[in-house]
Amino acid sequence: MVDRTSAQTCAILAAAGSGTRLANTTNGQSKQFYNLRGRPIYQWPLLQLCHHKQLAMVAVVTRLDAVSRLQDEISRLGYVDKVIVTTGGDTRQQSIRAGLNALAARLVDPEFVLVHDAARPFLTADMIDRALNGAKLHGACTAAISASDTIKRVECHLVTETLDRNTLVLVQTPQAARFSWLLAAHEKAFSNGLSVTDDAAVLEYAGHQVAVVQGSKLNIKVTEPEDLLLAEAIATLVLQQ
Ligand code: CTP
Ligand code: MG
Repeated sequence: MVDRTSAQTCAILAAAGSGTRLANTTNGQSKQFYNLRGRPIYQWPLLQLCHHKQLAMVAVVTRLDAVSRLQDEISRLGYVDKVIVTTGGDTRQQSIRAGLNALAARLVDPEFVLVHDAARPFLTADMIDRALNGAKLHGACTAAISASDTIKRVECHLVTETLDRNTLVLVQTPQAARFSWLLAAHEKAFSNGLSVTDDAAVLEYAGHQVAVVQGSKLNIKVTEPEDLLLAEAIATLVLQQ
């Protein structure tokens, strides 16, 4: 059993998507369950979260039809005491809100929460450290990398603007924040019908400043078929280390 009094910092692993952009390559299976070098993709970041000493509890949010499968797999990994599996929603935002409420029901006054996409297999302990430190220093932060390609705005296949890439970053997860900030921000977004694609945007909407911490080029989100090729190559490198 997790010590309820010291359960200060927790995490959510978002694994309730259906992976539609990859469905043809994965035979319809959700990408987080695709076997990447011997492990379902979601287990790569989950093990990093479970091993991290500062994280007292991890909520894995998944679709209803996958809950018992994940409970079985996580029990076989030996992490039933640290991990809860809960049902997500139709959008990522709904899934994170469900994870926050599941954690709020289990923990007494959690202080910080880290959110990570199950579709990003290559989370490291350093990335978790940077995100938690960023949340402690600034209240909220996101991992991001600088944009090395030029970015243009396009409408109907025509360039309408060239953006200044020095002011742009590519946002990743992990993202971390004061638990109370993120929960209240999600409740506000839900009440007002806001729909966004990451937790930083939910926090921005609630008026919080979100700091940027260093992500990694290797921290890819498996999204399109080519990403699976990259993921296989990175996984091979990681396993050789
Ligand atoms: N996610 C979630 N709940 C949802 C939708 C997405 O927890 N209702 C999670 C995904 O499992 C993934 C992360 O959010 O780990 C990022 O989402 P994305 O890359 O868009 O994954 P999918 O929604 O599964 O893929 P697609 O958009 O191609 O269907
Ligand atoms: Mg999606």
